Amino acid sequence: MGRMGQIIFAPGVVATARVLCRGLLPDQKATNPRHGKHAVATNSPEGRQARTTEDAFILCYPGGMVPIEEFAAGLASIPEKQFTHQAVLDYMRANRVDVLSLAPYLYFSAERYTRNLIHRTPLFELIAICWETGQRSAIHNHRDQRCWMAMAYGKVQVQNFSLVRKDAATGFCELEPSTHFVIDLDSPQEVDPVEPIHQVVNPHSFGSRAVTLHVYSKPFDTCEMYDLKTKHYEDVKLVNTTEYGVVKTAMKLEKVTLLPAPDTVHRI
Ligand SMILES: [Fe+2]
Repeated sequence: MGRMGQIIFAPGVVATARVLCRGLLPDQKATNPRHGKHAVATNSPEGRQARTTEDAFILCYPGGMVPIEEFAAGLASIPEKQFTHQAVLDYMRANRVDVLSLAPYLYFSAERYTRNLIHRTPLFELIAICWETGQRSAIHNHRDQRCWMAMAYGKVQVQNFSLVRKDAATGFCELEPSTHFVIDLDSPQEVDPVEPIHQVVNPHSFGSRAVTLHVYSKPFDTCEMYDLKTKHYEDVKLVNTTEYGVVKTAMKLEKVTLLPAPDTVHRI
């Protein structure tokens, strides 16, 4: 659900919603703004649901969730000039991803969190990160890259840091913890462009694995990592665990299919 009274299918396709999606219509044909006229939206294996309104036909999914392929295609349809902080955040808030559709990309490891590349264009990359309970990222900074984050499963905590001092010549840095917040299924966030140093944690106290979806623009393969104890920072190359569902590491992995938790099904 986007702004009040609207459902956002994809960027640039906004329909006024007078009747919302509830229940399955067995044989209804639909006009899907993304797929042209008379695309069939029925009780297909994907479980698509459909309703018509006085204003527009609305295609939606059980619980208001979209498959990852649709989510990625919608992101890719945003023109570069409109790929703004707010537009991408709005898009992520309006399009919750069905975690079941992420099955080809979900690999967990006891060694560390995993990075799983789903989609990449010259403008952005879409990555699913799988967190075992208790795992955390390094304290890091995406520098000038923009970064948005949404949950596909579970929840995580984000700790931001203020930079007190930094010396590029020696790699010295001094940080102070600042704000922190929890990201759950209802609250996609963007990395604060003013204070972009942060750490993502799936604490034991949350009691669950977690899957985060990250949009990075533009795609990047390094970031700055900070060590609070040694007060040192350095550039680190980022390595994907899997790319497009293909394993790229010798690390021991567990491939997992996750089902949406019943209490996360969002009725609109
Ligand atoms: Fe990050």
